[in-house]
Amino acid sequence: MDNRKPCKKSSRRWWKDAVVYQVYPASFKDSDGDGLGDIDGITSKLDYLQELGVNVVWLSPIYKSPQEDMGYDISDYYDIHPPFGTIDSVNRFIAELEHRGMKLVMDLVVNHTSTQHTWFVESALSKENPRRHWYLWRPPISQSAWTYHSATNEYYLSLFSPHQADLNWENASVRDAVHQVARFWLDKGVSGFRMDVINLIAKDQRFPDAEVVHPGQQYQPGDQYFANGARLAEYLLELRREVLSKYGILTVGGMPFLDDEEKRLEIVRAEEGCLDMIFTFKMMGLDMVPEEGRFSFKPWCVGNMEKVLGRSQSMTTKMGWPSLFCENHDQPRSVSRWCDDSDAHRVAGSKLLCLMQATLTGTLYVYQGEELGMRNVPASWGPEEYKDIESINYWKWVCSKWSPGSAEMNKAKDLLRRKARDNARTPFQWEATANGGLCPAGVTPWMRVNDDYPIVNAAAQVAMGKANERTALVSPYRFWQRALEIRKQHADLFVYGDFELIESMHPAVLAFKKSCESTSDVSITVLNYSGEEAEFAIPKDCPVHSWVMGSYDSLSTGKPKEGRIQLLPWEGLVGCCTVAT
Ligand code: NOJ
Repeated sequence: MDNRKPCKKSSRRWWKDAVVYQVYPASFKDSDGDGLGDIDGITSKLDYLQELGVNVVWLSPIYKSPQEDMGYDISDYYDIHPPFGTIDSVNRFIAELEHRGMKLVMDLVVNHTSTQHTWFVESALSKENPRRHWYLWRPPISQSAWTYHSATNEYYLSLFSPHQADLNWENASVRDAVHQVARFWLDKGVSGFRMDVINLIAKDQRFPDAEVVHPGQQYQPGDQYFANGARLAEYLLELRREVLSKYGILTVGGMPFLDDEEKRLEIVRAEEGCLDMIFTFKMMGLDMVPEEGRFSFKPWCVGNMEKVLGRSQSMTTKMGWPSLFCENHDQPRSVSRWCDDSDAHRVAGSKLLCLMQATLTGTLYVYQGEELGMRNVPASWGPEEYKDIESINYWKWVCSKWSPGSAEMNKAKDLLRRKARDNARTPFQWEATANGGLCPAGVTPWMRVNDDYPIVNAAAQVAMGKANERTALVSPYRFWQRALEIRKQHADLFVYGDFELIESMHPAVLAFKKSCESTSDVSITVLNYSGEEAEFAIPKDCPVHSWVMGSYDSLSTGKPKEGRIQLLPWEGLVGCCTVAT
């Protein structure tokens, strides 16, 4: 057995220390006044990101696309969606990143393409076309994942929307074509890929019907057939061998339906693994009813969050590497979801989430606006404000089933507001001026700006002063900046350290200890996930000698009395401990 300690310098990699910031291009910054964000807009905001402490930017897809699924339906991997810019804008963007010592990670979406991609257009021409077997075609069958194509009287597999056709990875020419795409972008200076639903590329080639496990439901879970297939590791290792290994890049796989721990380790095992890390979605499942999918809700509890964290953090002892995130473009805003986004508690809650992530072991991913504590869309918005294909389809289905004003429809509306992907996709709130600064006044932004932009915006938060004094009035932006600084200064402890859960004895308090053998540093993170005060007993074996950061400007609440502290609502604290060696 390899007993390598995770914080040993030998296991350090640049992508482990990285703070990756995900940009959703449509909603970040518009440079040409068409109401849609673009690449030049992102370039113009690089100083803001660098100041925050970010050193890698992950761009959601910018490739040419009909935008049925906001760019996750690519029609040309070698060109850019014109409203976002051109290849030249990308070149300028990379040069500006390099100038600041920053790197670019691109989304690699190769489980499927748009049906407007020439590969698919040719494939659909006839059963004899040389590209026919680049996709998965079958004679008429009755499964919902297949889309009928009348010209050739066959169905093609489309696990997402009918506009997104699944590629046939069994075909070596497809794999070659994907290798070429990856090589093209890496040669351009890209430093990594986030690989979209990459565990779906290997499928059970029998394509059986999913068993009916939820009678009466429209869809049945079929992931045992369409995800994590037998050839997954083979395909990924081939991609790594042929292309990725030659560049020293960051690779992270978006992998839903991957709960099996052994399988996860097979993918990310240090040195000989297929990818550096994966995004799994266990935490995102905590408040979901599995058989009801995205638009469902159930109350979650801290005990379950502890289990999820414990499992993902234990990867380091098994030579894997965790990725840390609370938000992305597919999830609601974290402060609305896990804390309380009311005016009274939003700031404390967003700081608590920051402290949790900034002190955990792994590579940290921050989603645009998370650093401002941006919230979900307001309850007053009607379904017409939602632009995402998933929300639109869901609402159509709701309207076909229930009548306006019915309890069911009201419940569905509530679920839309809680869980829609639109929550993360509203324009970034730069300032208190019209359109929140996404685009100039008088221009209609592609999506409505959250009504709270006059209060929640970057300009106001940046103006709140540097958070290097414990008593300073600290905005979420300044708080994140400070937390990232501390994470970097104490990387052995926070990025690479050993994780241990602390039994908090309080149902709402999540607490953990971090330690690092090589520096003998020890810290504790204490998080009160409730709107009530909560008592926390500091473990005797790690007495806190100072509180480093906390959700409230004054850390006085953290002064222990007889080894106990009284946490305020949504208070998060990080303390340094004195530990006898
Ligand atoms: C996962 C992406 O994150 C999501 O936005 C997209 O709709 C699907 N994959 C399909 O590409």
